[in-house]
Amino acid sequence: MQSVRFHEFGNPAEVLKVEEVQKPEPGAGQVLVRMRARPINPSDLLTVRGLYGSLPVPPATPGLEGMGEVAEVGEGVTTLRAGQRVIPLGVAGTWAEFVVAPAERLIPVPDAVKDQTAAQFVVNPLTAWIMTVEELALEPGEWLLQTAAGSTLGRVVLQIAKQRGFKTINVVRRRGQGEELKALGADEVICTDEEDVPERVREITGKQGLRKAIDAVGGETGAAVARALGRGGVMLVYGLLSGQPIPLDSGRMIFTSSTVRGFWLGDWMHTAPPERQQAVAGEMLRSMATGEIVPPVEAEYPLSEILAAAEHSERPGRSGKVLLVS
Ligand SMILES: NC(=O)c1ccc[n+]([C@@H]2O[C@H](COP(=O)([O-])OP(=O)(O)OC[C@H]3O[C@@H](n4cnc5c(N)ncnc54)[C@H](OP(=O)(O)O)[C@@H]3O)[C@@H](O)[C@H]2O)c1
Repeated sequence: MQSVRFHEFGNPAEVLKVEEVQKPEPGAGQVLVRMRARPINPSDLLTVRGLYGSLPVPPATPGLEGMGEVAEVGEGVTTLRAGQRVIPLGVAGTWAEFVVAPAERLIPVPDAVKDQTAAQFVVNPLTAWIMTVEELALEPGEWLLQTAAGSTLGRVVLQIAKQRGFKTINVVRRRGQGEELKALGADEVICTDEEDVPERVREITGKQGLRKAIDAVGGETGAAVARALGRGGVMLVYGLLSGQPIPLDSGRMIFTSSTVRGFWLGDWMHTAPPERQQAVAGEMLRSMATGEIVPPVEAEYPLSEILAAAEHSERPGRSGKVLLVS
């Protein structure tokens, strides 16, 4: 079968290859899944570059999520049948034609959820949901500030905001993105190229002040958002898009009693009680089935065109995810 692989960490354009490898076989309690679609996420390319929080030993196949259909069930598997659409949870190496997964790690996809949506079930929608609903517990009418608001995750946050009634301040690096995000339901947009973030936040939130923010950019943008937090404010840091550390204003943090802390879905998956994880996953699937949460897609490429797909996935100004399909 075909599989995207890398034999050493490095620049994706140089180290990613499409190779012919042995098709895996399902053992007892396992299922062989013919993968149909998987996104290229920043975490995948950070992994290829050797910069992610947990790393495989090369040679390895990237890909931390996707969707496919059951090709074959191993001995003792009675809950799934051939042809059924499934999402493998916590199964690495999805950028291959087939993966093998334990039956209990496969979530059946409801008919109303499209392949493109199911393929992106885990990384961005769950992170957006957990940060806003579970970690920050945003209430209707409350403000949330988010950076990299035009990202796939940022657009899902706008869908969750519409569903749950909280308001959003959206920080972007390009002025042109404002209208597009407002059409998707963004309440306010701040462009870092032209505006001072703390000043604009004070104008928008008034006496209420900003209590809740999420940052995926870091560097000066993350620092500006931390300075914009009001008394008791919290900023979750969840991305490394600028590649720069955040220079925090410690005086400001002390005298507003504000908090800046990290969030990683990988950790949540290991620490949140299984019943909580099932409840969140169920809620997400229902919202995807009703069309309230649908992560956007910009383009699809076959596995064999991985280099063009990876380059496209990091191009500025995209409107959604690049998927690898087969
Ligand atoms: N911590 C976790 O558990 C977790 C889980 C999921 C995702 N994430 C993180 O969430 C972030 C978004 O993921 P995604 O898949 O939604 O991303 P994406 O669709 O690939 O979009 C990336 C976005 O980042 C913006 N961007 C890139 N470099 C930037 C910079 N230097 N300054 C400002 N903006 C920049 C781009 O802006 P333009 O529109 O201007 O090009 C684009 O909107 C990533 O950092 C990812 O690693 C973290």
